[in-house]
Amino acid sequence: MRKPLIAANWKMYKTPKESLAFLSEFLPEVKDHTASEIAIFPTMSSLGYVIEATKGTNVTAGAQTMHWLNEGPYTGQTSPTMLESIGCTRVLLGHSERRIYAHETDDMVNLKLKAALEHDLVPVVCVGETQEKRESGLTEAVLRWQIACALNGIAGSLCSQMVIAYEPVWAIGTGSVATPEQANDAHAIIRREVAVHLGEACASRMRILYGGSVKPDNVASLMTQPEIDGALVGGASLKAKSFAEIVQNASA
Ligand code: 13P
Repeated sequence: MRKPLIAANWKMYKTPKESLAFLSEFLPEVKDHTASEIAIFPTMSSLGYVIEATKGTNVTAGAQTMHWLNEGPYTGQTSPTMLESIGCTRVLLGHSERRIYAHETDDMVNLKLKAALEHDLVPVVCVGETQEKRESGLTEAVLRWQIACALNGIAGSLCSQMVIAYEPVWAIGTGSVATPEQANDAHAIIRREVAVHLGEACASRMRILYGGSVKPDNVASLMTQPEIDGALVGGASLKAKSFAEIVQNASA
C-alpha cells in the first residue's frame, strides 16, 4: 500500500561536477527500477544541476533544508519559492545535523513544514533520539514530542505526500545501525503519534523511512519490517554502485 522511498542525503559532499559524474553512473543502473521511488538530496550548489540531469528519469531531487519565508533579509537562506523556481519538488526538514549545528528548533521545523506543504514541496521530516535519551528510556517521549511539535496546526488533509524519517542520532555516521526490530518499534511509535494529530487514515498512508548507517548489506533486513517504508541514506549513498545496490536490495 505504501510505495517505498529510497533517498540519498548527500549532506555537504559533491560539487556539481561530482554530482553529474555520480548520475551518469547511477541513472543507467536504476533506470528500470519501479519497485520504489528514488530521491537524491544534494547540497544547494548542486541541486539545480541534479534537477536538470534527472528530468524525465525515475529519480527526483530535493533540498536538504530551506527557510519558511518566501524572501527577506536572511543571509545564507533559500526560500520555498526559490526552490520551486528551479523545479525542486522535495525538501528535508529538521535533520539532526541541522538541529545540532544550525540550532534548528522544533518550532522552526513546524514553520518549515507548513511552508513546504503550502508550496507543494514533498517534505521529509526527520526525527530521532540521541544515545543518551535512549539509554534513559526516553526514546518514545522524544519521538512523540518531535512529531507533535512538527505537526502542530497542520491539517490531515494536507498530509497525503508527507514523509517522516526516523533517524536515531546514535546511528548516523557511526556504523551502528538500529536493529530492524528497534527501528520497527520506533516507527510504530511515530505512526501512532501521527494518527493522534492527523487521523488514522493519514497515518496509515504515511511513509516512514529509516536512516542511520544504512548499507547495501543491511537494507533488505530493515525493509522486511512492516513499519519501515524506505531508507534515508547518508555515507553509503555517495558512491553510485553502493546506492544503486541499496535501491535494488531494498526491494529484493
Ligand atoms: P549515514 O547513512 O551516513 O549514517 O547518515 C544517515 C543520515 O543522516 C541520512 O540523512
